[in-house]
Amino acid sequence: MTTGPHIDHLGPVPSGKGDAGRIPAHWLFARLGKRVLRPGGMAASVQMLRALTIQPSDDVVEFAPGLGMTARLALAALPASYTGVERDRQAARLARGVLPSSVRVIVRPAADTGLETGGASVVFGEALLSLQTPAAKASILAEAHRLLGEGGRLGIHELALVPDDLSEPVKQQVQRELAAVLHVGARPCTALDWCRLLESAGFEIHTKHTGALRVLEAKCVLADEGVTGVLRLAWNLSRDWEARARVAQIRRTLRRHRAHLASIVIVARKATIA
Ligand SMILES: C[S@@+](CC[C@H](N)C(=O)[O-])C[C@H]1O[C@@H](n2cnc3c(N)ncnc32)[C@H](O)[C@@H]1O
Repeated sequence: MTTGPHIDHLGPVPSGKGDAGRIPAHWLFARLGKRVLRPGGMAASVQMLRALTIQPSDDVVEFAPGLGMTARLALAALPASYTGVERDRQAARLARGVLPSSVRVIVRPAADTGLETGGASVVFGEALLSLQTPAAKASILAEAHRLLGEGGRLGIHELALVPDDLSEPVKQQVQRELAAVLHVGARPCTALDWCRLLESAGFEIHTKHTGALRVLEAKCVLADEGVTGVLRLAWNLSRDWEARARVAQIRRTLRRHRAHLASIVIVARKATIA
């Protein structure tokens, strides 16, 4: 029995109709009422926004705003403009539902936004690049580079493999088992590899924080979703045995590999060409 693919006043969630055993994990959690769908929770998002120091003069582009939780925080800095770029039409509508009508959320792939070259001073994205193939990671970073003007700032919040010298067989096993339970391509990198990816895309690393993978930890869920959110999650879970089984499977897999999983926040600047 599904709990009906709605998020309260916002309407149906992406791929809400599929069974809980098959849909991408982030939409399963969204359907259960979870709004924060990223490795380090809101604490890591705040860390990234702090390092990005968004100002009223900034033109901000967010890749994959999801349900708009970080967008709301970024807008508190009153940037000159904010544009969300979300590939999923329903997710874009949900994000618009929680954001002021003065900002726009366009339905485009992050690697091909159609936005103006050099038109942004800040680009950020969370829990997006970890889902992409190496080629797609490179194209999305190339698009971020194209969008940013001289000295523009890039922020990412992603899933990381630890330590940096983790053996290839273990990396592949963790990625394989994650992909099997998350039902999305899970391709996290080590912190060293994330930095190399950004550097080879023309960015200079300024800030790097690795932290615990907290997204399904009780304390983090309470901090991110609040008491009402936790009650909503518990209520929806209590009525959906398939979702309960799937969430338990995901938690078991994250726990089994917790020695090799972390969240990472990196803020970098578009390198100035000498
Ligand atoms: C795990 S969710 C993260 C959402 C949000 N950033 C958050 O942290 O809560 C991944 C999001 O990325 C979007 N997405 C995946 N690939 C994309 C792409 N190539 N271009 C734009 N959005 C993409 C999905 O639709 C989804 O909204």
